[in-house]
Formats: sequence, C-alpha cells, structure tokens
Amino acid sequence: MNHPRPAALLWTRQVARDVFHQRFAEPYIARHARAGQFVHLLPGTRHLFRRALSVYATDAKAGTFDVLHQVLGEGTRCLSQLKKGQTVDALGPLGNQFLVPDPGRRAILVGGGLGMAPLRLFALELNQKLTKRSSRRTALERTPILLLGTRTSSLAIAPFELGGIGIRASWASDDGSRGFHGTVVALLADQIADGRIVPEQSVVYGCGPEPMMAGLASLCAQHHLPCWVSLERSMPCGYGVCMGCVIRTQNGTGYETFKRVCRDGPVFDSAQIVF
Ligand SMILES: Cc1cc2nc3c(=O)[nH]c(=O)nc-3n(C[C@H](O)[C@H](O)[C@H](O)COP(=O)(O)OP(=O)(O)OC[C@H]3O[C@@H](n4cnc5c(N)ncnc54)[C@H](O)[C@@H]3O)c2cc1C
Ligand code: FES
Repeated sequence: MNHPRPAALLWTRQVARDVFHQRFAEPYIARHARAGQFVHLLPGTRHLFRRALSVYATDAKAGTFDVLHQVLGEGTRCLSQLKKGQTVDALGPLGNQFLVPDPGRRAILVGGGLGMAPLRLFALELNQKLTKRSSRRTALERTPILLLGTRTSSLAIAPFELGGIGIRASWASDDGSRGFHGTVVALLADQIADGRIVPEQSVVYGCGPEPMMAGLASLCAQHHLPCWVSLERSMPCGYGVCMGCVIRTQNGTGYETFKRVCRDGPVFDSAQIVF
C-alpha cells in the first residue's frame, strides 16, 4: 500500500553545479517504481509540502532508489544537505509511467537538462523488455535513440550506466559546445529531415522544461509522430485531492478539461495538452 515511509540517505554525489545524485534505501519504492513515476519527498521536519522528483534509478534487490535533482529553492537545498543515514519521509511511487512502443515503432527519448532523469530508467526498462526473446521485436525496434539537450557542455549530465547496454546519447547544446548546435528539438527535426528517424516507425518520449515540451509536441504533430511528454507542476498533495497541479487538456471535441499532473500524469499524450 502507498503511504509515507522513511527513506534513509545512503550517499550524495554532486554531478554538476547545483545538481545532486542521491541514493536512498527504501525497499517498497525500489520494488514498485517504474520509469516516469515520481517520489514525493518531505525535505525536513519544518517543511509543510513535499517535493516531487522523478525516479532516476532503482535496485529492487538492494532496496534502493535514486533521484537526480537541481537545487532551486529551500526544499531541494535541504535535500542536498542531508547527511548519510538521515531519513526523509517518502511517498511513492506516484503517477503513471512511460509505456513500451507498439510493435513496428522505435522509441526516441528526448530529454532536456534534468529531464533526462526518468528517460534513463525508461531506456533500461526498454532494454529489459524488448530484448526478451518472446518480444519478437526487430533490431530497429529494440534500439532506442536517446537525444539529450543542454545549455552548454559544462552543464551536461550524462546518464550513468547506459553505455553498458549500448545506448549512447546524441547531444545538442544551445551554444554549440557539445554536439549539435541548437536545441534538442532542433536536433530531432534534423534527424527526421535526414531520414535517421522515420516518423511512421517511431514514437517520441520527452521530458524537460515546459517550453521544450511545447516545441516537441508541435514538431511531432507536424510529422504525425506519436509523442508522450512528462510534465511538471508544483504538487501540494501529490495524489489527486488538492487540484493544485492541474493542466488544460483537449480531446479534439472542442471542449477543454482539466487533468491532474500528479494522478492522471505526469506522462501525457502531447496531442491532448493545451500548452
Ligand atoms: C513529476 C515531477 C517530477 C520532477 N522531477 C524532478 C527531477 O527529477 N529533478 C529535479 O531537479 N526536479 C524535478 N522536478 C521539479 C522539482 O519538484 C522542483 O524543482 C522542486 O519541487 C523545487 O522545490 P524547492 O523547494 O527547491 O524550490 P521552491 O522554493 O519551491 O522553488 C524555487 C524556484 O523553483 C521554481 N519551481 C518550483 N517547482 C518547480 C517545478 N516543478 N518546475 C520548475 N520550476 C519550479 C519556483 O517557481 C521558484 O522560482 C519534478 C517535478 C515534478 C512535478
Ligand atoms: S498535487 Fe494535489 S491534486 Fe495533484
């Protein structure tokens, strides 16, 4: 059952300026979390509200889960300063998850900045699910493409361990200091234009800042390319009761409805989002 549990910090590593990779011991989250889901952590006893962080890695055998977060304000600063052995109150895993593409389609993972966090776990899940002999997937379907964007090379955080399963990222940087010169959405457009990515044989999974998600949704719509995006909102409760995290959606009938990012998402069909 999902209720808050104490998660003990095992270690913290600083991986870029203001960006921390942390590992916590908590067996329930470690066993149940899937790519795209998040944990809701109470940074300290004086905090009223939890902070949502994507699950970055899990180890069900060891009973651990990892998060990757950037210090923005008081909550993430407190998390980054936790000492080994200290516990946080952790609720999760929460939200829905990224789903494996339909047969005949290859997964294109597009991450901006820290948006790479849930995509790394998804790349590992795809590797496990699609390489099973019973999956009958072609070589193309079994090999996801990973496109990552950063503002500049010194802020680029490479997802750990993916090289070991043969998934290498192509990079885009706003200033041209790493890989393609431009945004990661422009890199996707470039790879569609030169035929490396075939829209009819692909499905896109994106996570990153909202303007990037809007650009990705628009590009994919132009190419009739299915696209799932993970969205962020501040989340007071995290499990669907406060309505503090709603977004506008439409289903093609001309009417708009509100959906909760915490409960109906955070992963949505981009064609349904009103950006
Ligand atoms: C489903 C989900 C998954 C997330 N995964 C990650 C993750 O893996 N790594 C990570 O670093 N962050 C992630 N976030 C964002 C993270 O929740 C916020 O950065 C965090 O709550 C900020 O808390 P704070 O107390 O440090 O900052 P606050 O003091 O609350 O805010 C500091 C500044 O950050 C802005 N801010 C607050 N929340 C957000 C947000 N959600 N998006 C953009 N700006 C925000 C505020 O407007 C303010 O300007 C995720 C959010 C959601 C909803
Ligand atoms: S955070 Fe309360 S409904 Fe989503």
